[in-house]
Amino acid sequence: MASSSTPVQQPVYYDTVVRLFSVAAVVYGIVGMLVGVIIAAQLAWPELNFGIPYLTYGRLRPLHTNAVIFAFGGCVLFATSYHVVQRTCQTRLFAPGLAMFTFLGWNLVILLAVITLPLGMTSGKEYAELEWPIDLLIAVVWVSYAVVFFGTVGTRKIRHIYVANWFFGAFILTVALLHIVNSAAIPVSLTKSYSAYAGVQDAMVQWWYGHNAVGFFLTAGFLGIMYYYIPKQAERPVYSYRLSIVHFWALIFTYMWAGPHHLHYTALPDWTQSVGMIFSLVLLAPSWGGMINGIMTLSGAWHKLRDDPILKFLIVSLSFYGMSTFEGPMMSIKTVNALSHYTDWTVGHVHSGALGWVGMVSIGALYHLIPRMFGRKAMFSTRAIELHFWLATIGIVLYIAAMWIAGVMQGLMWRAVNPDGTLVYSFVESVKATYPFYVIRVLGGVLYLTGMLIMLWNVIQTIRNGKAAPVAVPAVLAHA
Ligand code: HEM
Ligand code: HEM
Repeated sequence: MASSSTPVQQPVYYDTVVRLFSVAAVVYGIVGMLVGVIIAAQLAWPELNFGIPYLTYGRLRPLHTNAVIFAFGGCVLFATSYHVVQRTCQTRLFAPGLAMFTFLGWNLVILLAVITLPLGMTSGKEYAELEWPIDLLIAVVWVSYAVVFFGTVGTRKIRHIYVANWFFGAFILTVALLHIVNSAAIPVSLTKSYSAYAGVQDAMVQWWYGHNAVGFFLTAGFLGIMYYYIPKQAERPVYSYRLSIVHFWALIFTYMWAGPHHLHYTALPDWTQSVGMIFSLVLLAPSWGGMINGIMTLSGAWHKLRDDPILKFLIVSLSFYGMSTFEGPMMSIKTVNALSHYTDWTVGHVHSGALGWVGMVSIGALYHLIPRMFGRKAMFSTRAIELHFWLATIGIVLYIAAMWIAGVMQGLMWRAVNPDGTLVYSFVESVKATYPFYVIRVLGGVLYLTGMLIMLWNVIQTIRNGKAAPVAVPAVLAHA
């Protein structure tokens, strides 16, 4: 490392695209979660679609999932990966023009999703609903992203490739593979296509995709975020670098095989379902290894949690990561899945991962990143971040606790039989019993969304009125 007296040539980073993606992430987070609150309210009060086809639950639900996963989550991943890869490779982003193209292209994809999904245009594949022309655009944007990211790694000024880049790299490569294979389709018109696969093969390919979308889009990329932003915010080195490498290889090897746990008790051959279950159980180990590595990075600095709300977001996200990656393997056990499948337990599991892990780690990273990207000393209001933290935490707890209770209740009601073999409850009785939990979920969602609105206010204030940061420390020393 250069001594402080040595003048160091600061690499001129290309951060315009980081700034754009990070602000877009906050805005799309709000839009996606607003749609989440609307569909949550529609489940409690169905008349809220006002009889307008574009606002029906079936059309807004994919809009919600696409907006939160690909618009919000995607923009967070673009912003952080472009930020991290430059700092850890000590070099400027490779092909900045192409990086800007990824911003414009990704936003075009989002715009097209916002138009086509409410119009009812869909391929019908969950998390891959967009029709074939948009799929082609996604493929072009994604390949450009890969060129920018790996080009930057390839032109790095230091030999070592920091572990966050391994996770980002795996996420980029795998998502390209998943998207291209699962979206293979035969178009019949500009707005309609049919999957290239049929029957059980189609289901298998879809859930190989779907599960790895969770594993790589919603997990590996965000683990890259964890490995950079937690050490930065805590001002501590990663707890164990060796564990991070074991974590990486074990996680990416195992995730690939777990998809069949989405297809228990279906026409998929039974042994395939068992393979999916076993790999899901194995997945607990690398997931918890990663969580422990992140949390233990705070060892010796636990006191920082008391008054640093950004760190609270980052560390609590890991607790939810631990919870959802314990729950997932349990739900993959066939006998447990027989109870949980089709119930709101799955939705509770999804959101403990989505709101707790993905949401909170993203929010923490954005609070770290945004002031630095806009030349500000810190976020405008730390108290607003603290308030956001508590709104988000209480919101998640309301959401997931309501769904767990509702889910287990539904599963038990559906399987309850009288001695003569008839059902104890009709389906509509289970729907009626679920009603209060749907209302609690709406409340949880409103709290989480309110937190995001406070974040937007804080971001605007930071950009407009935040205190300017002192003159930049050479990036080689600071890894800002
Ligand atoms: C204010 C926050 C949110 C609310 C109120 C909300 C609400 C909902 C609702 C009502 C559903 C439909 C459940 C069903 O069909 O029974 C849903 C599905 C889903 N949401 Fe959210 N959501 C929120 C945030 C998020 C975030 C941040 C993510 C991801 C990062 C996410 C990912 C998903 C996914 C993947 C599904 C599909 C679940 C499945 O198929 O089992 N949500 N959400
Ligand atoms: C060790 C890790 C994990 C395992 C083994 C696992 C396992 C499972 C299982 C068994 C299901 C239910 C499948 C069904 O009955 O249809 C499920 C659903 C789901 N999980 Fe996980 N899970 C894990 C982690 C996560 C995390 C961290 C997230 C989010 C960030 C997540 C998101 C989802 C989603 C979105 C679904 C719903 C898919 C759908 O039906 O649309 N999972 N998971």
